[in-house]
Amino acid sequence: MYPRILQKIDNFIVKTVNKYANFRWYNSPLTKKILANKEEYLQIWETAKNKKYLLIDDFEKKYNEQINFEWYNKLALHTQVVIKKSDIVYVHGRLLYTSLANYIKTNNLHSYNVLETGTARGFSAICMAKALQDNNKEGKIITFDVLPHNIKMYWNCIDDNQQKKTRAELLVKYNDLIERYIIFYQGNTKIELPKIQTPRIHFAFLDSAHEYYYLISEFLNIADKQIKGDIVFFDDYTPTKFPGVVRAIDEICRKYNYSKEIITISNERGYVVAKKL
Ligand SMILES: C[S@@+](CC[C@H](N)C(=O)[O-])C[C@H]1O[C@@H](n2cnc3c(N)ncnc32)[C@H](O)[C@@H]1O
Repeated sequence: MYPRILQKIDNFIVKTVNKYANFRWYNSPLTKKILANKEEYLQIWETAKNKKYLLIDDFEKKYNEQINFEWYNKLALHTQVVIKKSDIVYVHGRLLYTSLANYIKTNNLHSYNVLETGTARGFSAICMAKALQDNNKEGKIITFDVLPHNIKMYWNCIDDNQQKKTRAELLVKYNDLIERYIIFYQGNTKIELPKIQTPRIHFAFLDSAHEYYYLISEFLNIADKQIKGDIVFFDDYTPTKFPGVVRAIDEICRKYNYSKEIITISNERGYVVAKKL
């Protein structure tokens, strides 16, 4: 029997944690108000989607896999086009799609386990789900974020102009992919990731807190769940902007024996496809 006093302490902790989470994450944490009108978001989208990225084209040619551009840009309008100081660049969706599709082609398994940290509005999880669907494969993408999935909020995106939405509502057009492949998991990866008990993670995308210790601690949860050929995809491999991220990725690849394919498209943006050797 679980002693009553411990039950009481447990209940108190859960209540306190939930109260804090409700306050912090359930109260439109991204923005409290609508930041731009529909036309402004559309204008940013026009600019972003017409930019050319030769290195990304080369990557897709090398692996002979490319996401459907029209589909991908439509998804990006609702999940990537936001108001911020830096330019809007969402080519990691192309890289993720191509990397996962290539992994699928190379390994030809029946089912794939994918882990993502940092769901945000769901863009990257849906790009990865599309790679599974296009290759007619089964799989599960478990994606973590402190942001809740079923609480209405402003997301700093074009949809804010309609009303506050839950992430589920924001992504309703992608329900076929979500129902088949995606599990949205709310919580801090530091606490929640160790609870995931899957023995194998074929493909991971670590994209939550952009700090050395977070990245290392997230990786340690999957280190023993990968074997030769498995992949970890990293965003923000940019020494000037995220030195901690770069240090963590270099250390992970060196200590845990991963090759690094680095794609640097500017001083602000770099990506790494790390493959277990
Ligand atoms: C860069 S965004 C992810 C972008 C997303 N992967 C995409 O491509 O659209 C980072 C996300 O990580 C979440 N996050 C940051 N630290 C976290 C943590 N410790 N645990 C869970 N989520 C975290 C943030 O709330 C944010 O939504």
